Amino acid sequence: MVFSSRIIALFLALCIAIVTTAFLSLFEGVTQNALVVTFFISGSISYMLGFIVLEFLIFREIDKIYSLFAKLRKKEFKTIETERSNPLNPLKRINEEIFSYAALKQKEIDELKKIEAFRREFIADVSHELKTPIFAAQGFVHTLLDGAVKDKNVRTRFLKKAAKSLDGLDMLVQDLLTLSQIETGEIRMHFEYFDILQLATDIVEQFENKADKKDISIEFEGDTSEQVLVYADWQRINQVLTNLISNAVKYGDEGGKIWIRFDVQKDYVLTKIRDNGEGIPATDINRIFERFYRVDKSRSREKGGTGLGLAIVKHIMEGHGSRVEVKSSLGKGSEFSFKLPVAKDEDEKQEI
Ligand SMILES: Nc1ncnc2c1ncn2[C@@H]1O[C@H](COP(=O)(O)OP(=O)(O)O)[C@@H](O)[C@H]1O
Ligand SMILES: [Mg+2]
Repeated sequence: MVFSSRIIALFLALCIAIVTTAFLSLFEGVTQNALVVTFFISGSISYMLGFIVLEFLIFREIDKIYSLFAKLRKKEFKTIETERSNPLNPLKRINEEIFSYAALKQKEIDELKKIEAFRREFIADVSHELKTPIFAAQGFVHTLLDGAVKDKNVRTRFLKKAAKSLDGLDMLVQDLLTLSQIETGEIRMHFEYFDILQLATDIVEQFENKADKKDISIEFEGDTSEQVLVYADWQRINQVLTNLISNAVKYGDEGGKIWIRFDVQKDYVLTKIRDNGEGIPATDINRIFERFYRVDKSRSREKGGTGLGLAIVKHIMEGHGSRVEVKSSLGKGSEFSFKLPVAKDEDEKQEI
């Protein structure tokens, strides 16, 4: 039997009309005509009211809930119209609740799928990156064992090459560890006040040799007579500057230049590291902070890069509530910059 709002309303109206008429017939002096009129009036009013309530407040909303379920099953989220909730109709609110719950769950599922894809891709990348230096070292060692060890010249050359591959492997594993420790929160930031100009000067000294080999000069721009005090994690900022300066040297042109600059503002210090090297193509610039992303894979590896440096820099700056920005034009050079909180009053400076 099919229940529609019309049939139910008719049934209810009939019951109400019978009860009302029967009740009225208990009184003496009520005429037959009055009873008939009462029956029809109460019946038709009850029918109208019952029909309106059932049809507009209940059946339509239930139909909407069914069609919502159908759309959810087909994942047609976009075609679902969400109406403003009507406080008089609880069914309408249920409708909305179901929709927002399903949308939330779908978002979670999408997120999980993304994480899963990312994890798979990451494992594939790591295996590939590990394979390269291991294969190279393995090749050299086996060639030596197969007889090349007897030739003194070849022996030293191959051993050096094997050692270089293993050094690369060590660097890669260390970078991976740092990245995973930052991500899992194992490494906590230790904020303190320190002189970032002094730190950069020390790092530049470490790169003097490499820069000299490419005839690259590194210069500090602006006022360098005073300390530049920032509030940050010294060790992590050391890593950031080392990565950025090492990139500038690695990807800088022979005979090029690197400029380091600290702009002290009211609330922050803006650090800029600029080079006039090969630059980064516009199509790659948004991706260089991804793990293992390199513009030129073979060149980066040959220069001793792991492809993780900028991913680590990005994470460290996020840990400082800041971010690293990059501007670059191909063939002209690149500029990396980031902001750190400045030490403002004398108390803070005295902590040093
Ligand atoms: N100063 C720069 N000039 C040109 N390209 C750069 C510079 N810094 C980074 N890059 C590009 O971004 C990529 C990612 O950098 P990074 O994460 O430090 O990896 P790696 O140095 O190990 O290659 C590099 O491979 C390089 O292609
Ligand atoms: Mg690097």
